[in-house]
Amino acid sequence: MTKKFLLEVKHVSKHFGGIAALDNCSIAVEKGKITALIGPNGSGKSTLFNVISGLVRAERGEIYFDGENITNLEDYERAKLGISRTFQEVRLFSNLTIEEHLDIALDDKNEKLLRSFVHSTKELSSSAKQVLAKVGLRKELSTLATELSYGQRKLLDLAIALARPHSLLMLDEPIAGINPALRQKIKSLLLELKKENETILLIEHDMNFVMDLADYIFVLDYGKVISRGFPREVQRDKKVLEAYLGK
Ligand SMILES: Nc1ncnc2c1ncn2[C@@H]1O[C@H](COP(=O)(O)OP(=O)(O)OP(=O)(O)O)[C@@H](O)[C@H]1O
Ligand SMILES: [Mg+2]
Repeated sequence: MTKKFLLEVKHVSKHFGGIAALDNCSIAVEKGKITALIGPNGSGKSTLFNVISGLVRAERGEIYFDGENITNLEDYERAKLGISRTFQEVRLFSNLTIEEHLDIALDDKNEKLLRSFVHSTKELSSSAKQVLAKVGLRKELSTLATELSYGQRKLLDLAIALARPHSLLMLDEPIAGINPALRQKIKSLLLELKKENETILLIEHDMNFVMDLADYIFVLDYGKVISRGFPREVQRDKKVLEAYLGK
């Protein structure tokens, strides 16, 4: 029997000082679907991403990935299992080019291949070009990360996450601070990725953006899941409206 959920987070709690960033939080991400995590500022969305990717350890709770308990695994071990993510604050190396960033990500993918074959730079750069085209970043591969605008940096970060071998793609606010035209493009890209059977967990602040994009939504407030369901259900939930208006 194939499992329906690729990722299951069960009863996770995490405090920072006296603040409960996550409070008995549980979510599940279905294979081949777009699952959105929404909620007001400071509701624990990014902390949940950090707990899932292994950057932050939860005090309580368990995380299952493809049926395996990964709660005690290191971040790089989780990445190896197929968890690829972006960051809300894009992290790039200022002295590296687009191509170098993508080669690092793509190299992982070819790790096994590289052990038995000669390293093919040509092959890597054509894959790098493909992934750039996919996210719609029209820049030379030799462009330094520092030469990119804010929006272009977000796109490169997305390209890097896509280039890594993965079965789960986690995107932390990919459209934050992005102009409306590019937002629309990213929305189309996410729908295209879904068609290709990607499993996506998406953090988004703007409820409207996820309404016609997500298959399922979890709403966080003060580290708790206060609502979950199909987009229309969540949209109608009074608790969600109150959480957004109360801030
Ligand atoms: N490393 C940290 N140290 C201390 N407090 C933290 C840390 N990371 C998060 N917090 C706190 O935990 C709570 C949840 O933060 P988190 O960044 O997860 O929220 P968020 O939902 O992603 O918010 P936003 O929409 O603004 O990105 C906040 O009160 C935040 O200040
Ligand atoms: Mg955040």
